Amino acid sequence: MLSSKNLKSKRVVVALGGGIAAYKVCELVSTLFKSGVEVRVILTKSAQEFITPLTLATLSRHQAYTDDDFWQPIYSRPLHIELGEWADLIVIAPLTANTLAKLTYGMADNLLTNTVLASTCPVLLAPAMNTDMWEQVAVQRNWLQLLTNSRFYGMGTASGLLACDRIGAGRMAEPAEIFVYIQSLLHTQGIRDLAGKQVLISAGGTREYLDPVRFIGNPSTGKMGLALAQAALHRGAKVILVHCPASWDVPLGVEAIPVISADEMQQVMLEHLANADIIIMSAAVADVKPKEYSTEKLPKRSLPENLPLAAVPDIVAEIGNRKQPHQYLIGFAAQTGDIITPAKEKLQRKKLNAIVANPIDKVDSGFGSDNNQAVFLDMSGREVEIPACSKLEMAHYLFDFVV
Ligand code: C5P
Repeated sequence: MLSSKNLKSKRVVVALGGGIAAYKVCELVSTLFKSGVEVRVILTKSAQEFITPLTLATLSRHQAYTDDDFWQPIYSRPLHIELGEWADLIVIAPLTANTLAKLTYGMADNLLTNTVLASTCPVLLAPAMNTDMWEQVAVQRNWLQLLTNSRFYGMGTASGLLACDRIGAGRMAEPAEIFVYIQSLLHTQGIRDLAGKQVLISAGGTREYLDPVRFIGNPSTGKMGLALAQAALHRGAKVILVHCPASWDVPLGVEAIPVISADEMQQVMLEHLANADIIIMSAAVADVKPKEYSTEKLPKRSLPENLPLAAVPDIVAEIGNRKQPHQYLIGFAAQTGDIITPAKEKLQRKKLNAIVANPIDKVDSGFGSDNNQAVFLDMSGREVEIPACSKLEMAHYLFDFVV
């Protein structure tokens, strides 16, 4: 989560179409308000069949607007102009087939569509509809056409059990995922500086198994890699995320490849290396593995007193040796104490373009935390200190640093 300092002065219009997913948008509005964002809500006529303006007014601490307000001559300036100029970002969730069609053709027959036309800020779209509706040729054509306009940012739909009892595509992105996208767009102001780029990211802690149950591992949760994948995706990149076992869901639109051991991670990373423009090795790779692997669980009495170990491959060093001049390689150095000296040494030795020196002995930073702090260093000698912030924010600062 971005710290509330960065969200505090931001202004977001949340516009709801008529769909059952509207109930989830209540949670999104509440989260935005609690993060310090100023929120204004618009409900279409059909959105009000699902939830009331009162619910959203209560959660946003401000009147929620409907078409009744649009047609009232009580404002100094037309409401859609006020809202359109006020917004840093408009989020349309759930986006229905009807509103999608209107936006595609520039129609303006209600407060929502008029506000979009009276604004120039980025517009984030989270569609939600029945699978057959979503897959209609006309709907898909409108969707693709609307997204050719660079001010619109489309979130994919998830597959799952829909309210119509179908299992299929068309489910709205989860509020938490929409919230992350909002934070990204507020940070970048909609700039897609990674468009056309492929970003290959490793995340999490590798596991080196002794038998089917026991392994050598570390406390990495992969949250930093997840945040890097989200930030890269929201800046327009194609993202491949090679990740160790994790408790989070893969973001819609990210190609995720699960792996377990360092050997597996190396194989997958090298398979995808050729097409990558930026490679980020944020994974915490176990440095050693048990020399032998038993396919059967070892009885306690047969566990060796001293476990013979073997080294695992240094993946980032191997990539450093193989990378082409146009490819940009970033490593992480999780350290205690002096974080700069070992990071500088790794930057050179592993032939990296940049490194993130990451203290893991600070409160609320490093492994498992939602927050992080770091110093970015690169081969040209640049050194930028990033004070404690969310991992998503850190990911954006890193792309600001390298792009
Ligand atoms: O473990 P170390 O501090 O050397 O890690 C620095 C960088 O090297 C990190 O980016 C990490 O992902 C990478 N690494 C690797 N393969 C290893 C060990 C570390 O790619 N076996």
